[in-house]
Formats: sequence, C-alpha cells, structure tokens
Amino acid sequence: MKFTILTLFPEIVKAYFEASVMKKAVAAGIIEYELVNIRDYAHDRHHKCDDEVFGGGAGMLMKPEPLDRALEAAGSPAQRTVYVTPSGRLFNQKMAEEFASGGNLIIVCGRYEGIDQRIIDTRITDEVSIGDYVLSSGEVAAMVLVDAVYRLKPGVISGESLEEESFASGLLEYPQYTRPAVYDTMRVPDVLTSGNHAQIARWRLKASVAKTLAYRPELLSKDNLPGEVDSLLREVIDEGGWHEPGTSDPGRTDQK
Ligand code: ADE
Repeated sequence: MKFTILTLFPEIVKAYFEASVMKKAVAAGIIEYELVNIRDYAHDRHHKCDDEVFGGGAGMLMKPEPLDRALEAAGSPAQRTVYVTPSGRLFNQKMAEEFASGGNLIIVCGRYEGIDQRIIDTRITDEVSIGDYVLSSGEVAAMVLVDAVYRLKPGVISGESLEEESFASGLLEYPQYTRPAVYDTMRVPDVLTSGNHAQIARWRLKASVAKTLAYRPELLSKDNLPGEVDSLLREVIDEGGWHEPGTSDPGRTDQK
C-alpha cells in the first residue's frame, strides 16, 4: 500500500516513515510512501502557496493552483484522496479498517485556514477529522491516519495483538501488567498469574467492561458486544465501578 502525502512541510512527516515499525514495514515492501512538497508546484517567483480569504476574515488559505498541479501529478481524484480537516467526517477504527482494505491513499495536509473549496470539490474523495479539536496543521492528523491504517496491513503486527486491542471487540482494552509480579508493594492481580485461562479471560472482559463504562459508556449500547457483557456490567456497577488513575489501586499489598 502506498501513501502519498502532500504537505508544505515534508520534513515533519519524513521522520515518522523512517523509524520503528513503519521503517520495517517499508523495508519489507508492505508500505511505500512518497512525500510531495506542494511548494514545488508553485511556479511564481516566490513559490507562493497561500492567499487571503474572499469575503474577509482572519488567516490565509492555501491557493488552488499549486495544490491542483500537485494532486494531478499524484493521480487524484482517480486515486482515493483524503483531506485531513477538523470539518471532516470523524475518523474511527472502522474507517481505518476500510482504508486498510482499499488501495493506495493520497493525503492532503492543510496549513493556515485550510484549502480552497474548489480543490475539495474536484480532487478530494474523503474529508476526515481526527477529533473535535483544531490542530495547527494537517501533518499530525495525516500521521495519525496513516498510523491507524498501516498497522492493520497483514505482516505489520501480529493478528493476535490486533484482535485484543481497544475497539476490536467494541470495548476498551483491559489493563495489562508485566514482570515483576510485585513492584514497590503493588502486586499484579492474582488471577493473571494463576494460569487459569478461563478465569483470566473473564477478568479481562470484566475489566474492559468497567473501563468502558467509566470512560466511554456510549460504546456499551452497541449491539455487537460479547454475550457476557450484560451480566459483567451488573457486577461492575455493584462493585463500585472503575478506579480512576491515581486513586485506589486494588493490587497494593500495603493498602488499608
Ligand atoms: N487539521 C487541523 N485540525 C484537524 C483535525 N482535528 N483533524 C484533521 N485535520 C486537522
């Protein structure tokens, strides 16, 4: 799968593709990427890429001509072309899965107040927001999108990890622990070191339910949840629910 990123600041995005798991996915040929500097397509003397907004208002907008030329060269709109913008459709795991199962992606990063609507009308196939907040530019949003998508491609990370993480089951992921079993008087819940796989699975699902109830209760009303969720939810509520970080810790051996 190839990601073509159109940006005024390719250096921000470059490091992301050259480190860690992404670097390995590129070396393995699972992922290809191309960083396109939109300024290279601005043909005036000053390589101007922004201008004032018609009708007035604060801030500058990215001009249509350089972007249009850069997108034409990249193969848009025949190739799926995402514009990352706070006024887009809200990104989620389902959308990430849909992008991952499709073909190559072109991603346009806006700066300033955004891009000229005529480019959106003629070149963009998807407007995507990564959350209800405004970032200073699209590069970080583009990296969020790429990251959520590329890790779903076969061979990037293990299928088991993908199945167990947050959202895969419709719930938030349960808490996890590693060695040592007792750290500074705090012990790992006994069930996790018991070797009893059925009990471990039940503990994890219950912890997922408790955490989801505390942080994302709206997810519990979805109809694709595991069957035991209802009865575990009742137990969780009876037992007082999730402990917030920094409050009580049920694992502490020195707890009063
Ligand atoms: N650019 C600025 N803010 C953004 C957001 N929330 N999502 C996507 N792109 C953005």
